[in-house]
Amino acid sequence: MDAIRIRGGGPLRGTVPISGAKNAALPILCATLLSDGASRLRNVPALRDIETTAALLRFLGRDVTVAAPEVHVDAGSSVRPEAPYELVKQMRASVLVLGPLVARFGRAKVSLPGGCAIGARPIDQHLKGLEAMGCTIRLERGYVLAEGPGGGGRLRGGEVYFDMPTVTGTENLMMAAALARGRTTFVNCAREPEVEELARVLNKMGAEVDGAGTDVIHVRGSERGELAPFDHAIIPDRIEAGTYMVAGAVAEGSDVILEGAQMSDLEALVVKMRAAGVEITSEGQNIRVRRTGPLRAVNVTTAPHPGFPTDMQAQFLVLMSLARGESVISETIFEHRFQHVPELQRMGASVALRGNTAVVQGVGTLYGASVMATDLRASASLVIAGLVAEDETEVRRVYHIDRGYERIEEKLRRVGATIERVKGAEA
Ligand code: EPZ
Repeated sequence: MDAIRIRGGGPLRGTVPISGAKNAALPILCATLLSDGASRLRNVPALRDIETTAALLRFLGRDVTVAAPEVHVDAGSSVRPEAPYELVKQMRASVLVLGPLVARFGRAKVSLPGGCAIGARPIDQHLKGLEAMGCTIRLERGYVLAEGPGGGGRLRGGEVYFDMPTVTGTENLMMAAALARGRTTFVNCAREPEVEELARVLNKMGAEVDGAGTDVIHVRGSERGELAPFDHAIIPDRIEAGTYMVAGAVAEGSDVILEGAQMSDLEALVVKMRAAGVEITSEGQNIRVRRTGPLRAVNVTTAPHPGFPTDMQAQFLVLMSLARGESVISETIFEHRFQHVPELQRMGASVALRGNTAVVQGVGTLYGASVMATDLRASASLVIAGLVAEDETEVRRVYHIDRGYERIEEKLRRVGATIERVKGAEA
C-alpha cells in the first residue's frame, strides 16, 4: 500500500486548480441509467470512486469510457438491474443506482452498503421514499429487492417526508421520481450544491425538477418512461477547495489561489476561517487565501448545507489545533467522525473527545510522525497537519485519499510543499 511522506515547512504560495466535484459526478453518472442515449460528463476528476462507478455501470450493461476529465456512457447491451456486494462494498454511493434502476426497469436488486468507518449510515429514507412511490421493498440476504407497482410497473408520484436531510437519499429519489407517473413532492430535502447539480442534469434530460437547493423539491416525471442523454460539465469540488483553503492557512505567510473554486458553495467555511483570522477574498473565478497573523480559536458545529460541512470538520480541527485558545468542534451528522483525533494527538495536538464533541487546545507546534488514515477526509486532515509539523510525517493507507483527491501531492508541490508518494510502503 502507498504512503504519503511530507516534510513540514514554511508558507505555501501559488495556485491550485480545483477539480470537478466527486459528490456531483457519482449521482450524475448513475442518472445515465435513465436514458438509452450516449451521455457525456465533463470536468470529471480522475478518482478511484469514478472508476468504481464506471465498473458498476459496465456490470449493469452500460458502455463506459473513462478518459478524465471526460466520461462517456452509452447504452451497450441490455441492462441486468443487479448491483453486487463486491462492487457496492467498495463505495457506499453505489446505492445511487437503486432509484434509477427500479424506475427505469421496474425492478432492482442492490446490495445493502453495509457499515462505514464514520457511522452506521442506514438507507431507510431511500427505501421509505421508494415505497411512497409504489415500490415493494424486501431485504433478503444483504440485498434490497425493489419492485415497481403491480409486479414491476412504472413508479407513481407521491409525497416523501425525510426524517432528516439526506444527500444521496434526496438524489436517489429525485432520479426515481424523474420517471414516475405524475408529480412527486419531497419535504425536508438535502440542499447541498451537488443535489442542485443533479437537478440541473435531470432537467437537461427532460425531467421537471423544481426547488432543488431548497428543502422542498417537486419532480414531474417524464411521460415517455425514458429520459434523453446529456452533455454536461460538472461544478468544482467545494470540499476539495475547502481542503486546500485550510492547507493554505495552516502556515503563517501563506498566500494561495484556488483556481475555479466557487465561494458561494463554501460560505459556512469561509465565515469560520475569517473568524479565525484568515483573509479570504474572491478574485474572479478564483478564491484567494492569505494567512498574515496568528490564528484565533473558533467553535464549529457541523450541519446539513448551508451549515458547516461535516466533510470539512477534520481539516478545520487541524487548523484549530494551531490556534490561540480553546475551540469546541461538534459533529452532528456522523457518529464516528473523530478517528483523525488519536492520530493528530500522536503529532502533538491537544484534543479531548467528549461524545460527538472535540475540545481543542491550540498548541504552537505539531510534530512529524507515522499516522494512519481511516477515511477520506480524515486522511486529508493528516496531510494538512504534516504540511506544518516539524520534521517528517508519513500518512499510511492513502488509498482513502485517492478516493476523493485528484493528484494531491502534485497540487501541493505546486504551492511549495515537500511531499511525495511512497509506492508499496508498509501498511
Ligand atoms: C453524502 O453522504 C456525501 N457522500 C458524504 O460525503 C457527506 O459526508 C454526507 O452526504 C453529508 O454531507 C456523497 O455525496 C457520495 P446523508 P450520504 O444521507 O448521502 C442519516 C465524502 O467525504 N441517514 O446526507 O450518505 C445518516 O446516517 C462523503 O465525500 C439515515 O439515517 O449522507 C447521517 O447521519 C463522506 N437514513 C445523516 O442522515 C438514511 O436513509 C446524513 O447522511 C439516510 C441518511
